[in-house]
Amino acid sequence: MNNISSTIIEPATGAIGEKLAGRVALVTGGTRGIGASICRSLASQGASVAAGYSGNKDRADQFIKEFERDLDGPGRATVHQGNVSRPEDCRRVVQEVLQEHGRIDILVNNAGITMDKMAMKMSVEDWNQVIAVNLSGSFYMAQPVLEHMVERGTGRIIFVSSVIGETGNIGQANYAASKAGMLGLTKTLAKEAAFILGRSGRLEENGVGITVNTVTPGFVATEMLENVPEKVLDKIRSQIPVGRLCHPEEIARVVHFLAADASAYITGQVWGVNGGLDM
Ligand code: CAA
Repeated sequence: MNNISSTIIEPATGAIGEKLAGRVALVTGGTRGIGASICRSLASQGASVAAGYSGNKDRADQFIKEFERDLDGPGRATVHQGNVSRPEDCRRVVQEVLQEHGRIDILVNNAGITMDKMAMKMSVEDWNQVIAVNLSGSFYMAQPVLEHMVERGTGRIIFVSSVIGETGNIGQANYAASKAGMLGLTKTLAKEAAFILGRSGRLEENGVGITVNTVTPGFVATEMLENVPEKVLDKIRSQIPVGRLCHPEEIARVVHFLAADASAYITGQVWGVNGGLDM
């Protein structure tokens, strides 16, 4: 049971399609875990990717090596260091990506951290840091990218929130609040983007437009789960109707679906990918 390697997954190697040919995607936390899967998935549809990372330079170098080894599509990859909880880093990274790639069509706000403790034991620092990275960081990235997208009249912003933002979880007051906050941020930015395009007469019948959506993953088999005590993980697994953890690729395929031009009529929505955990 819950044997992660036993499930058939769409391989994100080589060019699989052309849905995102010529597009440029900036993915925060893009060099490992769910973020790296998202980069590979977007690239498999022809996109170039700019992957953000905060501290692990070795992992970033490895990401580039693996990308160049495995993906033979037209897109290329770059990596960009920055701490999303610092607005000045976010603006700099956005400028770097614009300089290197010329445009940003897709922003995936994926960078996130956990600092799990029971609420009564949670320090102010634990609270502030998780909110700063997960929620404020999403806003700091979205703001300059949205400016650029509004100028061009097209774009896709996709937030990677969590099922925990919808259900709450023991030990995750800070994380749940940050991920729930992303849902409100998504809906507001989706309304504002459509409003601004409409006001300037740029909402076209069959246009690409600017959409903002959120994916809410369940428990995904990545490094983030390593700190969860085994007994707790067993309890969590037993609550997942499909009986296993999620593979990062299963999140990535929803992100690339939402990123496509043809997804123009989906905006302000929350896409659950959680094995039925929230039913
Ligand atoms: N669900 C159900 N029961 C839980 C639980 C959870 N999420 N977390 C803790 N418990 C239970 C434990 O099983 C334990 O029960 P028993 O006394 O019956 O054994 C009890 O609560 C106390 O737990 P601990 O003994 O571990 O107490 P602690 O004070 O040492 O640690 C804790 C508390 C920090 C919350 C720790 O239990 C923990 O890290 N829990 C995991 C929290 C979690 O689920 N994190 C998810 C990380 S992945 C993620 O966040 C990505 C995403 O989007 C899903």
